[in-house]
Amino acid sequence: FANQNDKAVLKADGLASGNGVFICKSKQEIMGAANKLLQERIFGNASSLILAEELLEGQEVSIIGFSDGKIIRLFYPSQDHKRIFDNDSGANTGGMGAYAPVPFVSEKLLQEIKQKIMKPVINKMNEKRTPFVGVLYAGLMIVAGNPFVLEFNCRFGDPEAQVILPLLDSDILELMIACVEGKLLEKDIALKTGAATCVVMASGGYPDSYEKGKTINGLDEVAREKNVVVFHAGTKMENGKIVSNGGRVIGVTGFGKTIPDSINAAYSGVSKISFENMHYRRDIGKKALLRSA
Ligand code: GLY
Repeated sequence: FANQNDKAVLKADGLASGNGVFICKSKQEIMGAANKLLQERIFGNASSLILAEELLEGQEVSIIGFSDGKIIRLFYPSQDHKRIFDNDSGANTGGMGAYAPVPFVSEKLLQEIKQKIMKPVINKMNEKRTPFVGVLYAGLMIVAGNPFVLEFNCRFGDPEAQVILPLLDSDILELMIACVEGKLLEKDIALKTGAATCVVMASGGYPDSYEKGKTINGLDEVAREKNVVVFHAGTKMENGKIVSNGGRVIGVTGFGKTIPDSINAAYSGVSKISFENMHYRRDIGKKALLRSA
């Protein structure tokens, strides 16, 4: 099942708490992973059946849209940063930051994604009389300019939502109502010009077991920043103070005319906020500066 480069991805078919994927870059690694899954049964019966696929190496992109079951309207493409450390190293997380739009998804590529991936899903589900109404999220890998589907979700992404929703220039409620009433064709989705970047500030220890209850400083100061919005993810109010209460604590979104402007705005916001043992990536948006996938 490996391609000619002896690279493959092996995955437990059942649920494995997000840990069931093995990225193998040699025959040896493939055999090792297959052994763990099928012989050692490290995930029990969840790995009695496994999936083996070609390893796709490229740029990941999240394509998210609203559908009324008949048509789909897309938000800006966005790019998540799933690894915990800079330069995409370390463990996988729920997402340590995102930016939008994605410069290497050209209008032509976006139309290709819409025609070849998003529309066929909506059309097929409609044909089967199970129309999909809501938010459709396609996680794609762009390899040498070509889109490949990694996953679908029926929700917004986190932290993708924190960059694509602020760039929406239409009334979101009107769009949602149009979806429910099957009238999305009557509505355009207007997007603001400019860019947004979100940096996630995480608790010490995340994505493994992490600390909670740390006082978050600087929220009043950052609220005065122009071009910055703070999204609370894992926080709570305790004795009149806002404290950390999750792994991904806060998302700081910066806006600008260009991606670099939005990166600067986001990190300016981040610099105002502090809590004990917090950590965050310093390279969110850097990949936007690459010319092509
Ligand atoms: N950020 C990835 C997701 O929400 O699935």
